[in-house]
Amino acid sequence: MAEKLKRTHNCGELRSGNADEAVILAGWVHRRRDHGGLIFIDLRDRKGITQIVLNPEIDKIAHTKAHEIRSEYVLTVKGKVVKRPEGTANYKIGTGEIEVIAEDMEILNESKPLPFLIEEGEEVSEMLRLKYRYLDLRRPSLRDNIILRHRVVKKVRDFLDSRGFLEIETPFLTKSTPEGARDYLVPSRLNPGKFYALPQSPQLFKQILMVAGYEKYFQVVRCFRDEDLRADRQPEFTQIDIEMSFIDREDLLPLMEEMMYEIFKSSIFVEIPRPFPVLSYHEAMNRFGSDKPDTRFGLELKDITSPASKSDFKVFAEAIKNGGEVRGINAKGCADFSRKDLDDLTEESKIFGAKGLAWIKITPDGVQSPIVKFFYPPVSPLTKGGVEGVGLLDEIVRIMDGKAGDLLLFVADKPKIVFDSLSHLRLKLGERLKLIDENKFNFLWVTDFPLLDWDEEGKRWVAMHHPFTSPVDEDIPLFKTDPKKMRAKAYDLVLNGSEVGGGSIRIHRGEIQKQMFDVLGLTEEEAKAKFGFLLEALEYGTPPHGGIAFGLDRLMAILTNSKSIRDVIAFPKTQKAVCLMTDAPSNVEKRQLKELSIKLDTLQ
Ligand code: AMO
Ligand code: AMP
Repeated sequence: MAEKLKRTHNCGELRSGNADEAVILAGWVHRRRDHGGLIFIDLRDRKGITQIVLNPEIDKIAHTKAHEIRSEYVLTVKGKVVKRPEGTANYKIGTGEIEVIAEDMEILNESKPLPFLIEEGEEVSEMLRLKYRYLDLRRPSLRDNIILRHRVVKKVRDFLDSRGFLEIETPFLTKSTPEGARDYLVPSRLNPGKFYALPQSPQLFKQILMVAGYEKYFQVVRCFRDEDLRADRQPEFTQIDIEMSFIDREDLLPLMEEMMYEIFKSSIFVEIPRPFPVLSYHEAMNRFGSDKPDTRFGLELKDITSPASKSDFKVFAEAIKNGGEVRGINAKGCADFSRKDLDDLTEESKIFGAKGLAWIKITPDGVQSPIVKFFYPPVSPLTKGGVEGVGLLDEIVRIMDGKAGDLLLFVADKPKIVFDSLSHLRLKLGERLKLIDENKFNFLWVTDFPLLDWDEEGKRWVAMHHPFTSPVDEDIPLFKTDPKKMRAKAYDLVLNGSEVGGGSIRIHRGEIQKQMFDVLGLTEEEAKAKFGFLLEALEYGTPPHGGIAFGLDRLMAILTNSKSIRDVIAFPKTQKAVCLMTDAPSNVEKRQLKELSIKLDTLQ
């Protein structure tokens, strides 16, 4: 080799128009095929794959070297672009009409044998892929996700900048506050026995920035929450965090819709319809049993508490007597479900606390169900040839919009259990019956959340969102009379059944904040100890303000059609909050603990 080869093109850009050009490419050996005389190498870089041909008659040395080459070696190749011979083009890749005939080649580095084949992708265990994340990240699908994430963040920044927002950083080492999930704590060496907390969100700081007069703030920011993890939760995740002054919900929501529209248009070329539908919390719960409904399919919930309360079925009657209700789903066309299908559905509903699942099949010959005998009149007219009847069963079938061939499923219990189990069942049925159109992006706002949630364990009210969320103006008098009925000026953005964002208009006046703390059972001293700095700031001329935060990881998972948010994060953690690549969290030296004045109460 005379001189170092410096690349002229990337592996994704050569087309038939480049034929006859001399080029130098650099990249990784994606695949090597030895066809006796000819050796083919698929050379890959971030931009794509180009086929390299090594012909002993053209460059004997390069061809000999090619025998040593293994997967993921790093090469530079000098050669000539030629059109592939008739019938051998590969239209699946951008460079598929050409190949590069090697004239010189340099092996820049070797690779150990791989723990898994990069191409095998999803079939390899995720544990192994997370351990060798740098190899996993070479997979084109993961690479595309990471690149798209960059595009989306860039669009967000450009959009918000064009609307006068400033990106302002807020501290990571901050004060532990009691609301929300558990904090990640960081011990302070200089202040023995004291701890910082990593922020669960920049909530308090962004409100203080409004007090400070910055008016329009945003930040693409990491948040830390020590909570039980699920497929859509990471211990550290990224928010697109936004706050604005002198606005109301009616100003914020359309602006955020515009941002979403721009994101979708520029990243995946989909024009999402606006304005987004708005559902109140109550409507969302009543229709879907969830405050983050997937509206891509029907199977809505129906309330049969009234007729059920008049029946002789003890299960229903008892549940209602104890403050519960009975709701159901019409599984359209599922009257042919087997005993086992019904048992499986019952087990699914039990995951969320249901004690059982009552069912009624509507067949052309009448209704079939273990529970019909408890309804009066015992034989409904509907069972005699589908004549509209007047019995309880007819009323139930009518409410459920039951037709021959349908399967009606019911849960009787406390509202939370009824909603949780039926909304879970609804999603399971939606999947099983293939009712979900994967190409749809159904956004919706859920608004008018209850301000407060009753904590049964602590026997106290807790803020449903956070204690700085403003009540709806006309509900303010209810602080004194009926806090349960109070609605919050809070909103969530839901996309395909996933909560991708949430926010609220904040309380900006001291006397309302005080009433809120009163109802939460916080004395002035306690409130001061917990949120003192914010409360103090609020006394120095606070403008009306509000904001929202979007979960970037969740949004990206949906944009890229990924099953898990781990597929859109370069270095994610497992369900047990472990990084398999770095092995964090890990033990530390005794000396380090000593410096922090910490003694461990574990096995160490
Ligand atoms: P909230 O707690 O609703 O609001 O968070 C906003 C959005 O962040 C995403 N999210 C998560 N994503 C991945 N892993 C997690 N563990 C996780 N937790 C939350 C969700 C959620 O909708 N300060 C308020 C916002 C505000 O009022 O302006 C807040 O943090 O998509
Ligand atoms: P049982 O009388 O307990 O045998 O129950 C009769 C039917 O009612 C079975 O199909 C149970 O799954 C169902 N069932 C029991 N408890 C409930 C409940 N809380 N809600 C709905 N169905 C129930």
